[in-house]
Amino acid sequence: MCGIVGYVGDKEAAGILIDGLKRLEYRGYDSAGLAVVQPKGIKVVKKRGKVGILDESLKKAKLKGGTGCSHTRWATHGIPSKENAHPHLSCDGKIAVVHNGIIENFHALRDSLIKEGHKFRSQTDTEVIVHLIEKFYRGDLGIATRRALKLVRGAYAIAVVSSNEPGRLIGARCDSPLVVGIGKGENFLASDAPAILAYTKKVIYLGNFEIVSLTKDSVKVTDLSGKEIPKETSRITWDAEQAKKSGYPHFMLKEIFEQPQVLRGILDERLKKARVSFQELKISGAELKKFKQIAIVACGTAYHAGFTGKYILEEKLRVPVWVDTSSEFRYRGPIVGKSTLVIVISQSGETADTLAGLREAKARGAKVLAICNVLGSSIAREADGVIYTHAGPEIAVASTKAYTAQMAILYLLAIYLGKLRNVISSKDAEKLVVQFKETVAAMRLLLGRYKKKRNTIATYAKAFRSYYLKHKEKGFFLYLGRNINYPNALEGALKLKEISYISAEGYPAGEMKHGPIALIDENPWVVAIATRSRVYEKMVSNIEEIKARGGIVIAIVTDGDKEIERQGVNYVIEVPVVEEFFSPLLVVVPLQLFAYYMAREFGYDIDQPRNLAKSVTVE
Ligand code: G6P
Repeated sequence: MCGIVGYVGDKEAAGILIDGLKRLEYRGYDSAGLAVVQPKGIKVVKKRGKVGILDESLKKAKLKGGTGCSHTRWATHGIPSKENAHPHLSCDGKIAVVHNGIIENFHALRDSLIKEGHKFRSQTDTEVIVHLIEKFYRGDLGIATRRALKLVRGAYAIAVVSSNEPGRLIGARCDSPLVVGIGKGENFLASDAPAILAYTKKVIYLGNFEIVSLTKDSVKVTDLSGKEIPKETSRITWDAEQAKKSGYPHFMLKEIFEQPQVLRGILDERLKKARVSFQELKISGAELKKFKQIAIVACGTAYHAGFTGKYILEEKLRVPVWVDTSSEFRYRGPIVGKSTLVIVISQSGETADTLAGLREAKARGAKVLAICNVLGSSIAREADGVIYTHAGPEIAVASTKAYTAQMAILYLLAIYLGKLRNVISSKDAEKLVVQFKETVAAMRLLLGRYKKKRNTIATYAKAFRSYYLKHKEKGFFLYLGRNINYPNALEGALKLKEISYISAEGYPAGEMKHGPIALIDENPWVVAIATRSRVYEKMVSNIEEIKARGGIVIAIVTDGDKEIERQGVNYVIEVPVVEEFFSPLLVVVPLQLFAYYMAREFGYDIDQPRNLAKSVTVE
């Protein structure tokens, strides 16, 4: 939540700072602002609303200077307004700070700073940081920032500039992400690598309580007491092109269509014939053989991938697997220990609750394996072992390709652990790999059907909108699934809520009779996942029950299924035949597309839905 960028170098900072913000906008878009150190002092421009509005206003501002910082906000303390937008300035206007995170003791700090004569201009927690730095400033911005941060409790990633030291940029972090980009004659700070990919791929990942002092030619990392910390530089494998829309109207659509390629990449990277390898996984085979249960911890879409993981891992490993949302897991004294493998799943690797869950599990003696997309992220670094999804940058707030990539890793993990624990034979592993590859091919085929301008899913979205408007906005959605596709029902409903703002709930179809069926009249539209499986007939009966009560049904079925049509379902979406075990990878695609076309039909901002942020770094 919130994205920050910093620049020091010979180029004009403003353009680079804005460009970076545009690439970080998925982190928040309530307001945006930037500060540039100009010959006559710091100039701050900030606006309520999206980065585009700030960009427009900069055309008049003509900012000149090679040092600055910028921010896109997801409001926590203080309403989205110009006053609360970052950067925040010191009383004398000579220091500017941008911040991502929450300062928990800001009330106390603010009260004592006010007593000392500091004037606050916003309701934000962030503003205490800049006043503290001002208070401690004696000619060295780095020392003043260190002293200020020693008093601060909470999460932060900050960038600081001062007109007293025009060629210097300070960054620091604790629990909110910050990468340092190393350029030639220029250096950068950013919440996430895509912001600076166009300029450099050489980065340093800052650790907690580390502070970096940058000039255009130097990089020095210290701890809060000023002791220098030697840091490794890493190379980012993503390229700037991957973070562009490449002709698609929205990142979400691009990312949906990228899925076969992402899965193919995962298979190519991880498989040698039917042998799965996870090079970066640091947990030894001996340790992985020993655990007696698995706990999966994640939030949002990653939680749904984990939920599918329960079905995948239990079926193949025959060990108990339970799944929890991170925010519940961390506070309920989870019963995990030496015999538990805890798997945390996070696209960003920065979700605050998942990170806290990871720490809780480690403190209780469990081994933690992370499945992450972002290299060098906090979760990836703090876990005992990590498996990267390598799905490339996911920019749309609504997660799609990260979801299927996370599931893909869980499938491979099942094969890997199954062989290790001697519950899957080499022959079975080979068969599973073939089925997996067939599923990826089927996904490509399925998406090919929706490349056309007019497609059935888009038509169904249109039909719902007409219904909704005609019935005075009464329609809502129930998503039903069973067994391994039940988590997909949850995910389909989540996607619709996130970007179409239409009420949608996911249910295990067998639970309909225990409550939700009371909702059935002509109002709810029911999306029923009814592909060929061991629970197909049960699902057909559930559909019958809904139709008998006047519900409108969209059924997802296997190619050529005529039986469901006989139930009088209103709309049918066909998907190619694949092995039931791998079907979640395929079935989610029409659910993603349906949510996408619904949001498009209603004219909503698909990539940046209201109130959401891609990376939730606050609790
Ligand atoms: C936010 C995003 C979701 C994402 C969830 C977990 O809510 O909007 O798309 O699934 O966070 O994020 P993570 O980065 O941990 O996978």
